[in-house]
Amino acid sequence: MINRNPQLGKNRALQHLLTTEGLPASILRQILDTAETFMGVTEREVKKVPLLRGKSIFNLFFEPSTRTRTTFEIAAKRLSADVINLNIAVSAQSKGETLLDTVDNLSAMHADMFVVRHSQSGAAHLIAKHVQPGIHVINAGDGRHAHPTQALLDMFTIRRYKKEFHNLRVAIVGDILHSRVARSQIHALTTLGVPEVRVIAPKTLLPRQVERLGVRVYHDMRSGLRDVDVLMMLRLQKERMQGAYLPSSEEYFKYYGLTPEKLALARPNAIVMHPGPMNRGVEIDSDVADGNQSVILPQVTYGIAVRMAVMAILAGSQPSDGSI
Ligand code: CP
Repeated sequence: MINRNPQLGKNRALQHLLTTEGLPASILRQILDTAETFMGVTEREVKKVPLLRGKSIFNLFFEPSTRTRTTFEIAAKRLSADVINLNIAVSAQSKGETLLDTVDNLSAMHADMFVVRHSQSGAAHLIAKHVQPGIHVINAGDGRHAHPTQALLDMFTIRRYKKEFHNLRVAIVGDILHSRVARSQIHALTTLGVPEVRVIAPKTLLPRQVERLGVRVYHDMRSGLRDVDVLMMLRLQKERMQGAYLPSSEEYFKYYGLTPEKLALARPNAIVMHPGPMNRGVEIDSDVADGNQSVILPQVTYGIAVRMAVMAILAGSQPSDGSI
């Protein structure tokens, strides 16, 4: 069989994590199940296992990050890896060094894994194609293309609160057009068997032919939220907007901001998610963000176990029986 997925090796095992698109359900479930075994580690007094001892993991964040960068660092340290956070602002990139020359030089320092965030879609793919076999690349968000570990921690959160995927109605609300998170969520949700994925947004914030991804489109938030089990809110990604997509943030909040009144249209036990960073009063009201249906902070906590799972699987060091 020809392997068309650059993330998978000849034996169909995960070599890099670049996108959730095209990843088989078996691998998504393997990551979620492995993350579940790591949840116990994160609750111990000594939150460390020796699975990645001696490995060097380089965090290359060319874009700002709070959650992803920090939880990758925590995850790597809990696996006993050595973590190197390249400070891009004072690196030789500022003297004109290319991305691949930087990667080559870090590889010469015996890097085992690169965690890459970049404003250019495709940056992590480029590095994955370039590095020597045995070096693994994890996409920590590239342009508007993909943010696979965010989608995986979102799937983990959904499974923790809802148990199954096959009986859910999920709505993704907001700036789908510029969102790498939304794309990765849609691929993961449909692969894991969610029967109804809705996207709710003004026409200007939806990609053309978004229906082809297997979603139902709603422009009216009140119709779109009716009877959903999971709400995934997105911020307006102004750093990726060129031109005017909206009259104003106030207008946007009126039509697409999640308030307690709009949340009441969803199922009574619906959960509210947000990848962060949140813009309170723009896409979400504080009463909802801090309310009892919000699982926004648990998402962050689960991100540690999910990122531990991804790194352990890539390194071929996953726990086999949960006895870690
Ligand atoms: N969700 C997310 O990617 O957040 P950060 O930008 O803080 O990493």
